[in-house]
Parts: sequence; structure tokens; C-alpha cells
Amino acid sequence: MPNFFPRWTNLLPLQIGIALIMMGSAVTAGLWYYFTPKYTRVGYQPSQPVPFSHKIHVEQHGMDCRYCHSYVEKSGHSNLPSTATCMNCHKHVKKDSPKLAPVRESWKTGKPIEWVNIHEVPDYAYFNHSVHVNRGVSCVKCHGRVDQMDVVYQAEPQSMSWCLDCHTAPEKNIRPMDEIFNFDWKAADEDREAFYAELMERNGKTADQLISVIEEDRKLRPQQQRGFEDLIRLSETVYGKSEMTQDEVGLQLKSAWNVNPPLSCSGCHR
Ligand code: HEC
Ligand code: HEC
Ligand code: HEC
Ligand code: HEC
Ligand code: HEC
Repeated sequence: MPNFFPRWTNLLPLQIGIALIMMGSAVTAGLWYYFTPKYTRVGYQPSQPVPFSHKIHVEQHGMDCRYCHSYVEKSGHSNLPSTATCMNCHKHVKKDSPKLAPVRESWKTGKPIEWVNIHEVPDYAYFNHSVHVNRGVSCVKCHGRVDQMDVVYQAEPQSMSWCLDCHTAPEKNIRPMDEIFNFDWKAADEDREAFYAELMERNGKTADQLISVIEEDRKLRPQQQRGFEDLIRLSETVYGKSEMTQDEVGLQLKSAWNVNPPLSCSGCHR
């Protein structure tokens, strides 16, 4: 795919250096934003040395992402599983399948399987996995429905403007920590009283602080009464009675966790 990476990309670090010197102006930022290619890599789906299916393992057999990608929450880089992880099961399951021949071969020789890398951020941009996962960004926001893929493909552009789209409005993309691996989660599934009670209990927020988030967002005059009941009543009045929305969930979590993703060039180009 030589035309995806023309020769001038070699000069990128230099260009960034120059841009960093010139920056500070919103105009520059705006220009870079619009010139960044956005959809170049979406759909990239290389064939792999073993026909491994996430759909079979995750959707049909209920495996957790962390069984194989065990560092996603703990380290800056995610990891692919070792052959030993596969052999935990494939010593017994389908142990003579021809599709698994390369896995048995790797097990015998000790040479790792050469998976083809799909997602990649260039070296001149800094990206840390665990920071995102631990701030309520689910895998599905950045990788799509991997759980339903027979062959993994790149679902999101992972370009600079894509990073920035989320960084300018993280409230549209964050969710409670215990829903990170639930790819079907929607804000409407949250129970409002339980959601707020948990923010008070786990994050030490008071009803007063939670009410202030809503007031500030909607530019309301400060309320007189400020107990838990008043919080629920206000949020139902402002956001609607029946279901929670991403706006409500996201804004509260953003405030409770103090989420503030970098927007300046040096935040990602260090
Ligand atoms: C049984 C082990 C296993 C489980 C469970 C698993 N994966 Fe994977 N994953 C792999 C292997 C092996 C690869 C490399 C081959 C491929 O791309 O299919 C991979 C590749 C990937 C990639 C692409 C990596 C790249 O090169 O950019 C992503 C993204 C990914 N997995 C996400 C997930 C998510 C999200 C879950 C949970 C829903 C999950 N995986 C569960 C084994 C697993
Ligand atoms: C927790 C157990 C478990 C682990 C770990 C596991 N698998 Fe599987 N795998 C299964 C099951 C169960 C099936 C489905 C068997 C069936 O269709 O009856 C399967 C099916 C497969 C198949 C299809 C085989 C065929 O003949 O249709 C391949 C290929 C495969 N796995 C590769 C891998 C690879 C590569 C890894 C390591 C990254 C891995 N598996 C890890 C349980 C596991
Ligand atoms: C904020 C976006 C984002 C989120 C959330 C995210 N990823 Fe990634 N992931 C990326 C990017 C970007 C890369 C490429 C990283 C690089 O080049 O260093 C990547 C790479 C990977 C890889 C390939 C690692 C390798 O060594 O080739 C795997 C596997 C993966 N992610 C799994 C997951 C899983 C599982 C989750 C959920 C727990 C997850 N990711 C959440 C953006 C994300
Ligand atoms: C779907 C939302 C989302 C996407 C997409 C996303 N981020 Fe973030 N990013 C966040 C959130 C949330 C934080 C946490 C901010 C905080 O803790 O204050 C964050 C924090 C960061 C940080 C600061 C923390 C650190 O690691 O030092 C960097 C750098 C960063 N992101 C880079 C990137 C890059 C590069 C991309 C694109 C490849 C990207 N992000 C894509 C939501 C996102
Ligand atoms: C949220 C993280 C983030 C911020 C903030 C950011 N960048 Fe980037 N930038 C990236 C990523 C990721 C890439 C790689 C894009 C790709 O691979 O398509 C990139 C690529 C670039 C490139 C290469 C051209 C291209 O798009 O291929 C230049 C030049 C650049 N950035 C300059 C800047 C400048 C100037 C700023 C400040 C106005 C800035 N960046 C702010 C993440 C960021």
C-alpha cells in the first residue's frame, strides 16, 4: 500500500517540530485538524496466519477480552496472547484441527505466531491504552464490535482528528467503569437513583456537587433545596423522566473523575 504512506511521511517529525514552533494560534490548530486524513485506514483487514475468530471465542464462548489481552488496563500498550494461552484450551479442544496447525507448530518450536498488526499509532504521537480504559472509554469506541468479528478489521480511523473529536467532548464517550467490557451498554440502561447513589458512595460526591453539574451545564439558577431527592427531581426535570442519556451520564462522570483529555499539540506529540 505504498500510496498510503508517501515518501513525505519521512518528514513528519520535522513538520511537527515546525508546527509546534508556529502554533499557539487557533488558526494553525484548525488547519491541521482539517488536513489530517480521516478515513484512510478504516476497513483494513489483513489475513492472519491462523483463522482466529473473535466471534467464536467472545460471542459464542463468552470469553473476556482480558483473558488474551491481559495488559489493556494495566499498561500503555495492549498485548496479543502467547501461544501458551491458546494451548490452555487447544491441547484438548479441536486438537487435531488443520486450522490450528500453525499454533501447534509454534508450541513445538517456541517460535511465536506472527500475527499481522492492524491498529497502529505512529511513533511521533503518544498513545497510552490503560489511561483510556481506566477513564471509562470502552474498547468498542475505538475498535468497534470486535466481539462479533470473524476477522478483525480497523473500524475507526485513529487519525488525529478522530482523537481530537473525542478529546473535545469526552462526555459523549465515557461510561461507568463496570461497563467497559459490556459492548451493548447504553446510557438508557442505567438506573438513575443507583447511578447517583454510586457516585456519592464511590466518588465521595455530595448531592450539592452533583446538582451543580446539572445547573452549570444548563445554566440554571441555583436551587434552594439540595438533598438526594432534589437531585433526582432536578435531573428528571432537565433530562426527562424515563431514561438516562449519554449527556447526563457523561457529564457527571467527567466531573466526578476530573476528566480533561489533552488538546494541545504537546499533549500528544512529546
Ligand atoms: C482467545 C483469545 C482472545 C480473546 C478472548 C480476545 N482476543 Fe483480541 N485478539 C486475539 C488474537 C490472537 C489477535 C491477533 C489476530 C487477529 O487480529 O485476529 C487479536 C487481535 C485483536 C485486535 C487487533 C490488534 C491489532 O493488531 O491491532 C483487537 C483490537 C482486539 N483483538 C480486541 C479484542 C477485544 C475488544 C476483545 C474482547 C471483546 C478481544 N480482543 C478478545 C485474541 C483474543
Ligand atoms: C478458553 C478456551 C479457548 C482458548 C484459550 C482459545 N480457544 Fe480457540 N476455540 C475454543 C473453542 C471452544 C472453539 C470452538 C470449537 C468448536 O467449534 O467446537 C475454538 C475454535 C478455534 C478455532 C477453529 C478451529 C476449527 O477447526 O474450526 C481456531 C482456529 C482457534 N480456536 C484458534 C485459537 C487461537 C489462535 C487461540 C489463542 C489466541 C485460541 N483459539 C484460544 C476455545 C479456546
Ligand atoms: C481510546 C481508544 C482505545 C480504546 C478505548 C482501546 N483501544 Fe486498543 N488500541 C487503540 C490504538 C490507538 C491502538 C494502536 C496502539 C499503538 O500503535 O501503540 C490499539 C491497539 C490495540 C491492540 C493491538 C496491540 C498490539 O500489540 O498490536 C489490541 C489487542 C487492543 N488495542 C485491544 C483493546 C482492548 C481489549 C480494549 C478494551 C479493554 C481496547 N483496546 C481499548 C485504541 C484504543
Ligand atoms: C473515545 C474517546 C477518546 C479517543 C478516541 C481518544 N482519547 Fe485520548 N483520552 C480520552 C480520555 C477520556 C482521556 C483521559 C483524560 C483524563 O484522565 O483527564 C484521554 C487521555 C489522553 C492522553 C493523556 C493521558 C496520557 O496518556 O498521558 C493522551 C496523550 C491521549 N489521550 C492521546 C490520544 C491519542 C493519540 C488518541 C488517538 C490515537 C486518543 N487519545 C484517542 C479519550 C479519548
Ligand atoms: C489527541 C492527540 C493529538 C493532539 C492534541 C495533536 N495531535 Fe497531531 N497527531 C496525532 C496523531 C494520533 C497523529 C497520527 C495520525 C495518523 O496516523 O493518521 C497526528 C499527526 C500529526 C501530523 C502529521 C500529519 C498527518 O496528519 O498525517 C502533524 C503535522 C501533527 N499531528 C501536528 C499537530 C499539531 C500542530 C497539533 C497542535 C495543534 C497536534 N498535532 C495535536 C495526535 C494528536
